[in-house]
Amino acid sequence: MPIRKLGILTSGGDSPGMNSAVRAAALTAQNQGIIPIGIRRGYQGILDRDLIPLDDTQLSPVLAHGGTLLQSSRCKAFYTEEGRQTGAQLLRDQEIDALIVVGGDGSLTGARELHRLKIPVIGLPGTIDNDIYGTDIAIGVDTALNTIMQMADRITDTARSHQRCFLIEVMGRRSGYLALSAALSCGATAAIIPEFRVNLKRLKDRLSHGFKARPSDSILFLAEGVASADEFERRFQELDDSPSSEQEFRKSVLGHVQRGGSPSHFDRLLASRMGELAVNALVQGESGVMTALKRGRLTVVDFDEVLSRKKLLPNDLIRLARHLGLEFGDVVEV
Ligand code: F6P
Repeated sequence: MPIRKLGILTSGGDSPGMNSAVRAAALTAQNQGIIPIGIRRGYQGILDRDLIPLDDTQLSPVLAHGGTLLQSSRCKAFYTEEGRQTGAQLLRDQEIDALIVVGGDGSLTGARELHRLKIPVIGLPGTIDNDIYGTDIAIGVDTALNTIMQMADRITDTARSHQRCFLIEVMGRRSGYLALSAALSCGATAAIIPEFRVNLKRLKDRLSHGFKARPSDSILFLAEGVASADEFERRFQELDDSPSSEQEFRKSVLGHVQRGGSPSHFDRLLASRMGELAVNALVQGESGVMTALKRGRLTVVDFDEVLSRKKLLPNDLIRLARHLGLEFGDVVEV
């Protein structure tokens, strides 16, 4: 069946570059005679019939803006079968023939359910966490890492001036990708991440001996999925069998600053390419897949594959971390 109206929504935690994806999908649709419809506040907008036309007036200024012009939400009603059935029916009532969903794994799970309810749908991976299986990188990761790196460089300036040890807590509920990548690009001493169990005593000894030999600064990155900065500090200070260090300790929680800001060139282009691909794939009759970047090539991956497997940290990053002497521990058996 030809697509006359295409719904586009962004869902879950926003990520920089979502606007480029929306714009590219809307313009690609328009160029093929399809009417793009923006659905506001994620799946909630389907249930509330909160629809807006997507024309050049809205789309032209959005490339440089972080966040999402369509707004977002984590829609509780869509976790239920009843909510999804209602949503599918409301889409049909509005004569929306196909859907594009930009978001993380929760949002892609909702998209898969709509696909099962016979709504043609394609997902785009949008999350700063980079925890979505099937794609090397998601929309927003590059910008978030640039923000983290800039913030950490500033912290390093003051840490160096006082020869302090700084703990920097970054986002990543289940994934240590942000913490590990940032630790590598910022020359940190350690990355404390959910995928590996850091040896706290060894880390503390290394910091203490290093500081005694030559007082200098050190940076530790902590993924929020392991512990909060306060909790980690408590555990770290409680280690009583380690040599005590004279080094002063401070912590910094970067928080939502990591999610905002103007998207990087990489994210704008990735999102635009994925938005275009999603429309073309829908036109060709595809549904139930996510756009993905694999070894530099754009492709699509089945939702079932994406949602049934856990994304692992890239082996080459782990090897690099070992070779550069980054402390990140031993693999956690699951
Ligand atoms: O999933 C993206 C993410 O930014 C996580 O890294 C973080 O834990 C979470 O969202 C924060 O969610 P909220 O904005 O609802 O506090």
